[in-house]
Amino acid sequence: MMTQGTNMDLHIVKDQAEGGRVGFQVFKDALAGGAKVLGLATGSSPITIYNELAGSQLDFSQLTSVNLDEYVGLNADHPQSYHYFMQKNLFNAKPFAHSYVPDGSNLDAAAATSQYDQIIADNPIDLQLLGLGQNGHIGFNEPGTDPESTTHKVTLTESTIAANARFFENEDEVPRYAYSMGIGSILKAKQILIVAYGEAKAKAVAAMIEGPVTPDVPASYLQTHPRVTVILDEAAASQLKH
Ligand code: F6R
Repeated sequence: MMTQGTNMDLHIVKDQAEGGRVGFQVFKDALAGGAKVLGLATGSSPITIYNELAGSQLDFSQLTSVNLDEYVGLNADHPQSYHYFMQKNLFNAKPFAHSYVPDGSNLDAAAATSQYDQIIADNPIDLQLLGLGQNGHIGFNEPGTDPESTTHKVTLTESTIAANARFFENEDEVPRYAYSMGIGSILKAKQILIVAYGEAKAKAVAAMIEGPVTPDVPASYLQTHPRVTVILDEAAASQLKH
């Protein structure tokens, strides 16, 4: 099913496999329209799209990718780093000419974030893929983040640190900080694709699409962007009123 919101093309799919196919088509159309720079995300929501892209005939070898975020203090080869995630889920199958992820190994935050802003300025993003946090976050932009923010260092919440602890050998290894594109950086992308599945996302989805535009819900700023595609399953769409 597809309905037309003000600025949002809303696709409600039956499962993540179908979401992967719909998302793939958005990428394919963007490439056909001349997109050269793809903004990418980690997390569970994009995986079926990456599977479709990885198994496709699309050629990324002349394109550039720019990822949303990375943990501070993890090298690119750490299995929990977002570099590693991207390598495993997409780049091994589909290498890009250039793939940028914030440099989590650079502990000098001012240098790392300004370097990344320069990369984004030099490579304006044609299509930015996003997942949605249960609290409405996009990237690591938690509620309260300045909507005009550029790349910045984020202090992870205690609950995020606790949730991540299971992936590390000991608590001390769990990153406390991340580098993230800002809301302002994300909104500069020419086109945005956001994907959310499951009941746990339903409240954030409704707030993103139908709620007020507010720093309390970073994803609500997508209402101010001219070209957003949203892929949801029925559970994630269940609190929408229209
Ligand atoms: C990932 C990112 C996050 C996730 C969000 C949803 O690079 O920046 O904002 O997109 O937390 O995560 P999943 O898809 O795992 O539910």
